[in-house]
Amino acid sequence: MVKQIQIAIDGPAGAGKSTIAKIVAENLGFTYIDTGAMYRAVTNKAMSQNIDLSDADSLEKMLHDTSIILEPSQNGQLVFVDGENVTEAIRSNEVTSNVSEVAAHANIREILVAKQQELAARGGIVMDGRDIATHVLKDAELKIFMSASVEERAKRRFLDNERRGIPSTIENLKKEIALRDQLDSEREASPLIQAEDAIYLDTTELSIEQAAQEILNLAKRQMD
Ligand code: DC
Repeated sequence: MVKQIQIAIDGPAGAGKSTIAKIVAENLGFTYIDTGAMYRAVTNKAMSQNIDLSDADSLEKMLHDTSIILEPSQNGQLVFVDGENVTEAIRSNEVTSNVSEVAAHANIREILVAKQQELAARGGIVMDGRDIATHVLKDAELKIFMSASVEERAKRRFLDNERRGIPSTIENLKKEIALRDQLDSEREASPLIQAEDAIYLDTTELSIEQAAQEILNLAKRQMD
């Protein structure tokens, strides 16, 4: 019987968290949860209802009437909001540029964090986000803080956009990534910071497979 540990992976946008976390989860037979998708799902619904994204109370009211379901599938995590599959919609440029504002509201975070803790309670989980090790799963057996240079992260996002048919330029992506890093790290509610007991993993020079292998080696040590 495999020990059902919790693995927390945090880091800035484009560090490779979701791709690498997915491989780690698959390899261990664990469930992968991308918490950024929840903040994106809230942002997407609020935008489609023309709710002012700076209005934390209206957002909270909307969220109380919203069902967000994350469903693991062969092609990664599917996201359903009120029964509608929004997996692709939440990756649009509009959502990406507005999600930091929504994720900065403490009341919204509180509701989503409770949901994340519920999903992870039984262990056997790889969860990625910004505050997983510092806040959501403080007792996780393995905590990784993953990063890469802004240049490299912009390049990866560009290739990813190309695959999805989303137009972008590396220069703009660099600016966007730097701005989002700043918003996520400087916000008051659960800013993006490395937990004291997290292991730093710089993926700038690593392939996806190498980074996943590093984490798998660390995980296996915790599972012995
Ligand atoms: O990882 P991502 O790009 O899908 O995240 C979307 C946004 O949500 C990003 O601005 C940071 C925020 N986020 C957060 O504040 N806390 C998390 N646990 C996950 C994401």
